[in-house]
Formats: sequence, C-alpha cells, structure tokens
Amino acid sequence: MTLRAVVESVGHYLPERIVPNSHFEATLDTSDEWIRTRSGIERRRFAAEGETTSDLAIAAAKAALDHAGLTPGEIDGIIVATSTPDLTFPSVATMVQNGLGMQHGFAFDVQAVCAGFIYALATANAMLISGQSRRMIVIGAETFSRIMDWEDRSTCVLFGDGAGAVILAAQEGTGQNSDRGILAADLNSDGRYREMLYVDGGVSTDGRAGKLRMQGNPLFRQAVDKLASTAITVLQKAGLANDEVDWIVPHQANIRIIAGTARKMNISMDRVIVTVQDHGNTSAASIPLALSVGVETGRIKRGDLILSEAIGGGLAWGSVIFRW
Ligand code: ACO
Repeated sequence: MTLRAVVESVGHYLPERIVPNSHFEATLDTSDEWIRTRSGIERRRFAAEGETTSDLAIAAAKAALDHAGLTPGEIDGIIVATSTPDLTFPSVATMVQNGLGMQHGFAFDVQAVCAGFIYALATANAMLISGQSRRMIVIGAETFSRIMDWEDRSTCVLFGDGAGAVILAAQEGTGQNSDRGILAADLNSDGRYREMLYVDGGVSTDGRAGKLRMQGNPLFRQAVDKLASTAITVLQKAGLANDEVDWIVPHQANIRIIAGTARKMNISMDRVIVTVQDHGNTSAASIPLALSVGVETGRIKRGDLILSEAIGGGLAWGSVIFRW
C-alpha cells in the first residue's frame, strides 16, 4: 500500500482593498506602464488597518473547508507558510487553529519566504504519507504591505496581501505516477545569497519588524535558472516528462520570470496559471491563490498533473508535482 497526500479542496481570501498601479504614480517616480511591462502586475490587494495575516489565513481555511464539505473536527494538523506573522510568536497556525474553534491536533508555521508554500506542502506530504497525520490544512498567508518601504519604488510596487489554503488527506494509492496526490517534491536553499533579498530588521538584531530589501535584477537571473532546474528535477523524481504536465502553477513574482521558466521547460504559456496581474507578489500565498483561481475558473480539473515551483529569500527554492 502506498499512501498519497491528496488535495481535497482549495480556497482563498483576498483583502477588499484593490490598489491599482496608478496609486503609486502620485508619490513615486514610477508609472503604470513601467510596472506593467517590467513585472506584469496591474493591481494588488492591501489588508485593511488592523487586518492581520491570521485573519486572512482563517478566511482562506474556512473557504477550503466549505468547498470540501468538511468541519474543523475532521482536521488534525495545520501548517501556515508565512514570513509576515501577526506576532513574533505564537505561530499564525495556532491562531488559525483557535479561529476555527479547534482544541485538538497540532499547528505550526513554516518560514521559507516566497518558497514557503512549497516547503509547507512537502512537510505536510511527509507527515501524511508516514501516517503521522490523516488530514491537514496547508495555508500560505501574507501581509507583505506591512514590510514595504513606501519610498523604494523598486520593491513597494511589486507586493500584495492575501491567503490561500488547501486541504490534504492521506489516501491509498497504487504507487504509480497515475495516482492522485503529491508525486514528488524538491527542496533547495543556499544561504550565501542572503543579501539578495532580506528584511533589514528582526527580533534578535534590532527588535524591529524591518523593511524588505531586494536586488531585483540579479535575483531575476537566479530565479529563472533555479526554478527551471528544480522543475526538471521534480519531474525526474516522479518519472514524468515535461509534456505530461497539464498546468504549471508557479509562484507569482514577475510575468517575465514565469514566462522565462516555462520557455526553459518547453511548456506553452497556455498551460500556466497566471494571477500576478491581479495579486502582485503575495509571497507564500501566491501558489495557493493561483490554484484556487485555476479551479474557480474551471481550468484545473480532477486528474490534472500540476507542477508548482517557487523561489524566495534565503535563497530558498523548490517544486512539488501533484495530480489534482
Ligand atoms: N518604476 C520605474 N522605474 C523603476 C522602478 C519603478 N517602480 N523600479 C526600478 N526602476 C528602475 C531602476 O531604478 C533602474 O533604473 P536605472 O537603469 O536608471 O538604474 C531600471 O528601472 C531597471 O531596473 P532593474 O532592476 O534592472 O529592472 P528589472 O528589469 O530587473 O525589473 C524587477 C525589476 C521587476 C524587480 C525584476 O528584477 C524582478 O522581478 N526581480 C525578481 C523579483 C523576485 O523574483 N523576487 C523573488 C521572490 S520575492 C520573495 O521571496 C519575498
């Protein structure tokens, strides 16, 4: 018997406030045209004052539970991928647990910046196929608007807030790559790249939350290379070929990174779910948000083979291949 971690449902939540690119033209030397052509972003959502990452995560988790027709009593574990927690501790995941009215099971956060959802999926997969857990909610939730330097045009126009959640359950499979569920994962990190993308404050340095700092152009080049390479590795691990992939559901940082990676993999953009125009870069939330939009719009269907890949601060990057 082979246990597989199968996605039972997906849901998302976006804050109400929609911020178009033109919003930044008033205060910065930038333009809608620059943002659109260099990143593909047209608008993003920002959380309201007082609206926290756990609020977004709870709403996304409730949507995923509703779509599956499940109650919190049927969940035994929660993982939240986030780099923008409400507080230094406790974890956002325990806040979600409480918000769902759960007094059983376990909950913890994973921090791998924009690769966080991939790391969380791989972690949940390991727990489910080893029998440690039977059904988990895996959430990506972020309020990156809270760590923006609003005077830095090279970063503040790129990020947005949101949350997405999937419910994963252990189900018996055949062990073949025709099974539903996660078929392979590939995780990587390299701390030498710390300066390329970081937040310039923290608990044990200066006690501040800090602001995001990024060397966009060198990171761009690292991103396309590393994303294509992890995608090829995960396909090899699963014994699958590029042309068997129905959908790439990538981290949504920049349309040019998404297109460059698809090109390197010889996969047409018709088979890529793109939401960066509407959400901006929502870090760990971007993949579950894109999955949710892919399902809502009727493109992702049961049995489809999906490849998700992401890279972010660390650098940390990786990919997961799964059958919906
Ligand atoms: N408006 C107008 N001009 C701008 C803006 C702006 N908002 N931002 C930068 N510029 C200028 C720069 O100052 C530069 O001007 P200069 O030539 O006079 O010096 C020029 O535009 C070109 O800047 P580049 O940085 O070379 O532009 P590039 O084509 O690389 O695009 C971008 C920048 C969009 C940031 C891109 O590099 C990128 O997407 N990088 C990767 C981001 C990423 O993947 N992050 C990882 C995930 S995020 C995470 O983990 C949290």
